[in-house]
Amino acid sequence: MAARRVASWQGPKLGHYVLLWTVLFTAHCRAFTVRQTSDGGVDVLLDGTLLLRHQRSDPAILVGSGTTVFRELHGNFNISDTVGLRVPLPDVDVTQPSPSEYRLLFSSGGNYQTEMTLMTGNEGHDHVMNISIPGNLDRTWLRLYADDGEHVYGGGEQFTYFDLRGRSFPIWTREQGVGRQPGTFVTDEANRRDGGGGDYHTTYWPQPTFVSSRRYFCHFTTTDYMIMDFTDTTAHVMQIWGSPGVVHFGAAATFPELSEQLGALLGKQPELPDWVYDGAILGVQGGTSEVLRYLEQAEGQGVKVNALWIQDWAGRIRTSFGRRLFWNWVWDENQYPGLREEIVRQKERGVRFLGYINPHLNKLGNLYAIADSRGYFVKNSTGQTYIQDFGEFFCGTIDLTNPAAFQWYKNEVIIKNMIELGLSGWMADFGEYLPPDMVFYNGVPGREMHNHYPALWAKANRDAVEESGKLGEIVFWMRAGFSGSQNYSVMSWAGDQFVDYSLGDGLASVIPAALSLGVSGYGLSHFDIGGFTSLFGITRTEELLLRYAEMAVFTPMMRTHEGNRPADNWQVYSSDSTLQHFARLVDVHVSLTGYIRELVQNNSRYNLPVQSPLFYHYPDDPMVYSIKYQYMFGPDVLIAPVYREGVDTWQVYLPQGHTWVHLWSDNSYEGGRTVTVDAPLGQTPFFFRESSRWASLFRTVARDNPPVSGTSLSSSILPYVTAIVAIPLFFWFRQH
Ligand SMILES: *[C@@H]1O[C@H](CO)[C@@H](O)[C@H](O)[C@H]1NC(C)=O
Ligand SMILES: *[C@@H]1O[C@H](CO)[C@@H](O)[C@H](O)[C@H]1NC(C)=O
Ligand SMILES: *[C@@H]1O[C@H](CO)[C@@H](O)[C@H](O)[C@H]1NC(C)=O
Ligand SMILES: *[C@@H]1O[C@H](CO)[C@@H](O)[C@H](O)[C@H]1NC(C)=O
Ligand SMILES: *[C@@H]1O[C@H](CO)[C@@H](O)[C@H](O)[C@H]1NC(C)=O
Repeated sequence: MAARRVASWQGPKLGHYVLLWTVLFTAHCRAFTVRQTSDGGVDVLLDGTLLLRHQRSDPAILVGSGTTVFRELHGNFNISDTVGLRVPLPDVDVTQPSPSEYRLLFSSGGNYQTEMTLMTGNEGHDHVMNISIPGNLDRTWLRLYADDGEHVYGGGEQFTYFDLRGRSFPIWTREQGVGRQPGTFVTDEANRRDGGGGDYHTTYWPQPTFVSSRRYFCHFTTTDYMIMDFTDTTAHVMQIWGSPGVVHFGAAATFPELSEQLGALLGKQPELPDWVYDGAILGVQGGTSEVLRYLEQAEGQGVKVNALWIQDWAGRIRTSFGRRLFWNWVWDENQYPGLREEIVRQKERGVRFLGYINPHLNKLGNLYAIADSRGYFVKNSTGQTYIQDFGEFFCGTIDLTNPAAFQWYKNEVIIKNMIELGLSGWMADFGEYLPPDMVFYNGVPGREMHNHYPALWAKANRDAVEESGKLGEIVFWMRAGFSGSQNYSVMSWAGDQFVDYSLGDGLASVIPAALSLGVSGYGLSHFDIGGFTSLFGITRTEELLLRYAEMAVFTPMMRTHEGNRPADNWQVYSSDSTLQHFARLVDVHVSLTGYIRELVQNNSRYNLPVQSPLFYHYPDDPMVYSIKYQYMFGPDVLIAPVYREGVDTWQVYLPQGHTWVHLWSDNSYEGGRTVTVDAPLGQTPFFFRESSRWASLFRTVARDNPPVSGTSLSSSILPYVTAIVAIPLFFWFRQH
């Protein structure tokens, strides 16, 4: 704005002076201010927002040291910590070396001292807090000011709680866990099995970033272990291991502006390839003829398939968890004969092939032998390849901090074996299993590399795609993530949900996951249609599969997964009727292409997440701040996925101040209340604002895609049909 004014400068006018004062005044406000308070304390504000309140009786900084022990098994970590020293620093001395910089020296009777620098740089756009603690200490408690009614969101991808207030969140990438709710059958069984049950905070993508309802964000640049504790009523207590380093803050009038600032800081995601919107990605496996048979079957029932995702392109092994892939990323020509030609043939008719990779190599494969002989793996304390048990098979982890190893994996494995084979994308799995006693080429301690590794893994994939000139053609999707993934990963997925309706690990959990990841600066996500993990005799039903599918319609990318035990679980191809339901859902998705593409563009341009929380667009409605199972699919569209079994109506809260139209019935509702609508299978509650410029598209989509006749499910109507037929027959027989 200011730059444009300068360009058209034709001498000062009154308006220009007003503008100049406005700019100066705004620039002044968009900086830290430090106010000394009467009790010998200080308040730190940004843009008028109180960030930190230091009082002698309640110091904002404590320092200390402690011992932390990490135990890892199958990507699950037990972390035990003993604090040896914890010293509050009540004294503070403030200096201001320049108008844009403050120095705060915190101390405790001269024994311990810590310097905090507050700087505003980059023309008032970058607000940095830099904390340095004495070298012999390794722990900092930073107490940020907290308000009574304040809500806090983000923390990376959080599956259980969207508003983080009232809970504590360790920042450590790991398996999200099976069940994720101690005390439930699935979680307790998973814990008995290998300690893999998880909890509300366990996640593949934690991130030390949060957004407050007081309209500021806070981002820690450390990659070391840390805990964001929001349980205190007067302070957000950030416990940082190692050097606390640099913390970024930003304040803005609106939440989308905060997102934009985070995008400038962390990087943004590119747009998706156009083919992604053309249909659904079918997750199938078993060999060339097998997957083509699935394709024919799906297309025969009218399903628009844009890609076959064959995760077993490199072959398979068998374990007690189910069929596992052979982690040796080379085309298995025995299982997939003629694949290279088939990829070309299918691409001509609009069906791509996608594969799978992760940063580990199975000891039994030829790639392992090469990497091992060249020293490309992460090492253990005795300088040998660090071997990990991945569940009845053993692997090394590629050391992406070693430039030669990085190049080799990118060029010889990803580019040569996958891109040159013709694959248009892949799941870039794992990245969370690295124990802190691993020894890296770059000399950075394993504890600091652990969280950073997923971003490096994303960069290896991204570089391979870019160097092949295939950005905009190839899509890879990742579950592990951390700060930095924003700039490299091109799509995320929610990982391995359990095949049930549990809030901890079931269908519902992917909604807060997408929202918290969006708030943390990563606005593209999707999930396995049907969920993934099936254990302890619990299997996926047709209803669960279709509820997942209907929710996926309103995300940027639809992709099915057969799960860890394909034969035991209901599949999209299990019946023609399922395929017909699925075909209609894919049609709805495809007919929204123009709209979804624009949402994805807005994420690329403005870092506005494709799925965003209600408060992003309706901040004046106090009710929306605690909603975690509904989302905005663009400012005008509200989606309230059905996440319970056996229901056909659903309650939805509509933001106040607007009139909302229910897509499937065309009924209008005034916002500011909860309404109940019909929500049979295939009709995810979808509301659009009456005034939306997309209203006619939405109405056309609804009109052109009526529910599939005989909407009820074969599996769930069977008892009723049986009853309806059997009961009269019973009486008829009795009477005759
Ligand atoms: C933060 O402080 C440390 C130690 O004083 C210094 O080395 C580093 O350059 C500072 N970083 C920034 C961004 O000011
Ligand atoms: C973590 O602790 C739980 C509970 O004590 C135990 O079942 C599990 O095996 C432990 N896991 C590891 C990796 O030590
Ligand atoms: C994003 O990645 C590019 C290419 O590696 C790099 O030049 C740029 O600095 C990165 N941006 C951020 C915000 O990390
Ligand atoms: C290091 O790894 C090698 C195998 O690569 C193993 O034989 C050795 O025991 C490991 N050393 C330690 C200290 O774990
Ligand atoms: C994308 O962003 C632009 C600019 O803010 C806005 O006008 C447009 O409505 C957005 N598109 C969608 C689909 O939300």
